[in-house]
Amino acid sequence: EKGGHKHFMAKEIAEQPAVIGDALGHHIQNGQIALPDVDFTKIDRLVMVACGTAFYACLTAKYWFEQLAGIPVEVDIASEFRYREPPIPTGTVALFVSQSGETADTLAALQYCEGRADQILSVVNVPESSIARGSDVVLPIYAGTEIGVASTKAFTCQLVVLVLMALKAAQDKGRMDAETLNGHLTDLRNLPGLMNHALSGNTVMKKLARKLAEATDILFLGRGQMYPLAMEGALKLKEISYIHAEGYASGELKHGPIALVDKKTPIVVMAPSDRLFDKTVSNMQEVMARGGKVLLITDAKGAEEAGDGMWETLIMPEVPDLFAPILYAIPAQLLAYHTAVAKGTDVDQPRNLAKSVTVE
Ligand code: F6R
Repeated sequence: EKGGHKHFMAKEIAEQPAVIGDALGHHIQNGQIALPDVDFTKIDRLVMVACGTAFYACLTAKYWFEQLAGIPVEVDIASEFRYREPPIPTGTVALFVSQSGETADTLAALQYCEGRADQILSVVNVPESSIARGSDVVLPIYAGTEIGVASTKAFTCQLVVLVLMALKAAQDKGRMDAETLNGHLTDLRNLPGLMNHALSGNTVMKKLARKLAEATDILFLGRGQMYPLAMEGALKLKEISYIHAEGYASGELKHGPIALVDKKTPIVVMAPSDRLFDKTVSNMQEVMARGGKVLLITDAKGAEEAGDGMWETLIMPEVPDLFAPILYAIPAQLLAYHTAVAKGTDVDQPRNLAKSVTVE
């Protein structure tokens, strides 16, 4: 049942190119994004609510919805949102993201939006779940059953559905021409191939993981749309390897966390060579000047631009900017996985955690 893998998590990480292919096949038809039940022209404002990894998918999507479709987005953790009881102005659509569709706080947040938001949308993996049943429109992610407690393939499938929504919103709002959109869809169809490539570096991953496994604290840094992924990478690592990890926005480093940097602290920097790359390079130099050990995850161009002095560099295939968080999720997951294996923890059933959090 683990398909030759030692753990469900390993199997589910490896399945990502295939399930993402499925998700794309379901949501793109005849070359068009097929999300017929959502009228994106009517969305003035989007409120996205979720927990844990699904929350980080929402945070990533905020960059997409704002950048591509010009829709202002608020993202909140369900347990905060439900008790804060925020005002929901007219023109607001509420969007809930949940793998299980049964998370108690997310469901309560959805119920709060009933009668307040113009429409309730959900992005779920389980279409017959409570969150799906409470929604006006359900967008399935087609990840297939996820058994490992640490969410992997559900996260990347959530990202794929969310980026398709943002692209469709951009098109419907007249902010993207057909040619640009087609270019993005072609890039998306190429993504499973790039992911296969990213999955192939297991020997290197194991070597890096053995080094990370010796650390007691690890920082993850990312900028722009890679910032939520830095937090997801840290969450994944702490969940299954029990190593303390924090994700920060690269630019926030000097406002506090740099005080933690010493010779023992690995700093994982997730940075494709995008328009903000040189800023990240200066953040890394600040870290290295203080003896910090930088593990840079980037593409070949980024590795060259970053220069010498890295502790380790992991090279990813080049990927169109927009889809970098989806591709870079793979090394984040693999590093967590192999570090946990190196530490001998129970990868599929980490201590104190449940797959579906149906009580608050
Ligand atoms: C992290 C993880 C959790 C879940 C969170 C929300 O690996 O699995 O953080 O993402 O409990 O669960 P769902 O998506 O089922 O609402």
